[in-house]
Amino acid sequence: MTAIDDQIGRARSTGPSVQDLLAADTRPVPQSLTDHSYVPQGKADVPKVRYTAAKFAELEYEYLWTRTWQMACHVDEIPQPGDHVVYDVADQSLLVTRAKDGSIRAYHNSCLHRGTKLRTEDGRVGSFRCPFHGWKWDLDGKLVELPAEWDFPQVWQQPDSCLPEAKVAVWEGFVFVNLDPDAEPFESVAAKLIEHFGRDFNMANRYVAFHAVKEVPANWKVCMEAFAEGYHVIATHPQILEFAGDANSEYSIWEDSQYVTRFVNGFGVQSPHLGNLPEQQVADAYLAFSARAGRGAIQVPDGKSAREVVAEVFRGAMGQVFGVDLSTASDSEILDAHLYHLFPAFMPWAGVGQSLVYRWRPGRTPDTCFMDVLRMMPVPPGKERPAPAPTQRLRLEQSWKEAEGMSGLADVFEQDMENLPKVQLGLKMTAKRAKKGVSFGLYQETRIRLIHRNIDRFIAEGLAADGRSVDELTPFIVPEG
Ligand code: FES
Ligand SMILES: [Fe+2]
Repeated sequence: MTAIDDQIGRARSTGPSVQDLLAADTRPVPQSLTDHSYVPQGKADVPKVRYTAAKFAELEYEYLWTRTWQMACHVDEIPQPGDHVVYDVADQSLLVTRAKDGSIRAYHNSCLHRGTKLRTEDGRVGSFRCPFHGWKWDLDGKLVELPAEWDFPQVWQQPDSCLPEAKVAVWEGFVFVNLDPDAEPFESVAAKLIEHFGRDFNMANRYVAFHAVKEVPANWKVCMEAFAEGYHVIATHPQILEFAGDANSEYSIWEDSQYVTRFVNGFGVQSPHLGNLPEQQVADAYLAFSARAGRGAIQVPDGKSAREVVAEVFRGAMGQVFGVDLSTASDSEILDAHLYHLFPAFMPWAGVGQSLVYRWRPGRTPDTCFMDVLRMMPVPPGKERPAPAPTQRLRLEQSWKEAEGMSGLADVFEQDMENLPKVQLGLKMTAKRAKKGVSFGLYQETRIRLIHRNIDRFIAEGLAADGRSVDELTPFIVPEG
């Protein structure tokens, strides 16, 4: 074992750790936040071809997207029988709908006659009628009409003429689907998420206040990985360094949780990249960025930290916006970014303010993908649940700034988006003498390594189950070590 192997992922940035910040919190912090852990994932380079090759995208189509739990929609989007959302992923499509008995079903969105996609848009219907020859299924998936049924005795009123269904799970208002009938149950795959949110973060009592989906010019993993670490803040978002603990963010991987990980970025503390700043400067910069107060308007008294002073300002302001008493909410819940990740591509934030939710899906080629952004807001106390915001769809060449209601978040997102096509192009440098792999950090980017290893496992298992050679994966596989 080399000196590096022995030390994999043990080194940390200077500056307070997230656990230090929690220990200094002015309120008790949720138990979930002190539940942190780290499991090294090796140091091997991750082959670039995983992001660029059509063959690898095909393997993902076949053995990742058809076999994993994915968030398809929110229950509020399908309140009535016949309401449906078309969930397209890779080359698959599901009709996620509410049946007559109120249960949520995910039917294969494909006619049992000649395969036509039954619905191409979300909406509300009384039945699902194929546009080609008119075969019709009721909301329970039963074939109820077949023009010239005398010609189809092998189908009409046969037991297998119902629409096939995918597995469905509902978590905190989100509908998850899985095309694999033998999939590990959602409850076990997402156990850590279920435990933490169930105990400490109320997602079910939130509604979709904003939803936009954009086609992005980069592989889905390139895009997702840009939101999985705080390492890029120094070069990509330098405007937040005065008040963001970027290099001392925390990344949790738990031994007993293969598919759920977490990233916590502390705010209201300066970046370790900067020389020691006065607490007043940290508070001023943060308050000015958040448009809460001009520089110098709020004083940080001697003996207090910028973090606790800013948290108090935000606590009051957010309490007013949401109409709730946040006096017991911890500084961390008020300020920090807590991003959970559920494999393969679902990323919900936790906290008491707005909760963002991200989702990624592959694009039509390995060079594009779709990213969804949802803003989940607490339902105001004593008020009815507001209807979910309609989904805004942005094309490849459009900017997040064109999404109505995305506000200041769009500016930060556009900084991230600037990088992505450059990454995608650079990853194609695979000629002789070019570097063949991506060298992720051993701590800050280690969750990304775990995601890649999980992808390989799904593909290898899928190939084996189909009697195909695992050699198909060999040119792409992340090496051991
Ligand atoms: S393809 Fe659907 S009815 Fe013919
Ligand atoms: Fe970013």
